[in-house]
Amino acid sequence: MAASGYGKAEYWEERYKTDKERFDFYVDYTSLQPFLNSILNEESKILYIGCGNSLLPDQLYDAGFKNLTCIDTSSTVIEDMQTENSTSRPEIKYQVENALSMSFDSNMFDLVIDKGTCDAVLCGDKAFKNMRLLCSEVSRVLTETGCFISVSHSDEKYRRLHFTAREEYGWTFVTQSLTKPGSKQKYHLYVMQKKAKEEAQQPQEEEAEGEKEEKEEGDQPEGEGEPVEETAETEEEQPPQE
Ligand SMILES: C[S@@+](CC[C@H](N)C(=O)[O-])C[C@H]1O[C@@H](n2cnc3c(N)ncnc32)[C@H](O)[C@@H]1O
Repeated sequence: MAASGYGKAEYWEERYKTDKERFDFYVDYTSLQPFLNSILNEESKILYIGCGNSLLPDQLYDAGFKNLTCIDTSSTVIEDMQTENSTSRPEIKYQVENALSMSFDSNMFDLVIDKGTCDAVLCGDKAFKNMRLLCSEVSRVLTETGCFISVSHSDEKYRRLHFTAREEYGWTFVTQSLTKPGSKQKYHLYVMQKKAKEEAQQPQEEEAEGEKEEKEEGDQPEGEGEPVEETAETEEEQPPQE
């Protein structure tokens, strides 16, 4: 299946060169606020992958969550956002980065936010492979109690397989539905949570023993657990809706 424009970096670069209006895919902070407020504190280190020119970073900052790093593959949108926020929200870091291969150290972020970027990646070439790279990278940069949230238009049956493809991601998977004020459209919030804080505080010895048992029981041949029928599944993919 041919990749849609949304799956191509050139599409986004061109779009951000010509359309300077700020735009949020799906929902903005208002819809996410109850959930985000329940898991964040002012010290939380937040990474937003594929930020585009979304207002979410501004809204998070103004709500007191100032430790924000926003990345995108488009250098145009990163420059624009940096310029726009440099005076009013100077602590927000904007960086050109590919979410499939990030330059950040491991265990750096308490929360990684995706809103529409996984949907875009899944419209592109090598969609399944790239989605696995993205999840591995997100898992790597999350702290051991960190959380990854993904806001999508796509149904759980098309997302669960990606977010749960590999045990090594080390997270649990739950879903919530999201509504946009004034709209009947429903969106999905996928929450991938690494260990709960209490779990992470278990004595080291006990944990090491548990891990050993799990590995022995759960060892699988290479490739096991990977999604199958790449073309059949990607044919169901819909580009991000505006
Ligand atoms: C559907 S838009 C969502 C923008 C923003 N998150 C929002 O909610 O409005 C997808 C964004 O992801 C960016 N993107 C796509 N693939 C990416 C990748 N591999 N790494 C970083 N950003 C990427 C695109 O440039 C675009 O800005």
